[in-house]
Amino acid sequence: MTEPRHFIEIADWTSGRLRRLLDLAGRVRDGAFADRPLEGRTVAMIFQKPSTRTRVSTEVGVAQLGGHALMISELDSQMGRGESISDTARVLSRYVDAILIRSSGHERAVEFARHATIPVVNGLTDLVHPCQVMADLLTVVEEFGPDPSRLRVAWVGDGNNMANSWLNAALRFGFSLRLACPPGYEPDPRILARAASSQVELVRDPERAAEDAHVVTTDVWASMGDEGEEEKRAAAFAGYRVDELLMARAHPEAIFLHCLPAHRGQEVAPEVIDGPRSRIFREAENRLHIIKALLLDLIR
Ligand code: CP
Ligand code: NVA
Repeated sequence: MTEPRHFIEIADWTSGRLRRLLDLAGRVRDGAFADRPLEGRTVAMIFQKPSTRTRVSTEVGVAQLGGHALMISELDSQMGRGESISDTARVLSRYVDAILIRSSGHERAVEFARHATIPVVNGLTDLVHPCQVMADLLTVVEEFGPDPSRLRVAWVGDGNNMANSWLNAALRFGFSLRLACPPGYEPDPRILARAASSQVELVRDPERAAEDAHVVTTDVWASMGDEGEEEKRAAAFAGYRVDELLMARAHPEAIFLHCLPAHRGQEVAPEVIDGPRSRIFREAENRLHIIKALLLDLIR
């Protein structure tokens, strides 16, 4: 089987390639590839939604590898006037060596990859956020050692793009994943069903999810695009806050992760996100090591 040329979902890649990606990211973090392996290469970044970490880690990561990153805002390009994805993907493929895309609709990223003749990396869609969860896994292996399969991960809150990517990661890495999502906010049913053969359980109760977990993780109650539902969601997620009481149910060495940006006092208590178990800034740093490793895998 040929390996995919793109990185759209974690589940698109084999466990072996994903493990090699984590190893590569560790070597990148430890100072390998200082010889500018992407010299003369250009990576285009297309953003349909705001970003701090994804944009900056990609731009800086490409520069550190000797290449050039080009920011394309949809509104400032002809895409904003309706030029088709297929034409845009084919044209950009003749100028640049890879494309990172952050798009509202997952299908747009998939269509981009279908028409591009160069690698496409998913920098977040409404369905998944694969670069982020690979950075989270790098943080997990740094903390607990190279084999995550013996670990228990608790997801608390919205069954959103992050939850879906954790499901894909559980499928490929074999760790146990318990998700506590309120009714009506479950993960994507197709992704949940695909992960069902692994150690995945959808529970309603955050305490049950957190029981003896090595990793407790959550995300905002209203993702980008859900802004109009903030009040409704605040009511639905009221019992889904990661606080010290919840962390006390987790494993004694448990860590807390959050992809950021966060809303302190909503999905997470300040004492947890700013407390000794939090690894959020290491996690954010790992976005840089992961995107560099991904680009080395895809275009070197
Ligand atoms: N976590 C993450 O993807 O952050 P940005 O939206 O700032 O890129
Ligand atoms: N679930 C969040 C993640 C942000 C990095 C969102 O999609 O807005």
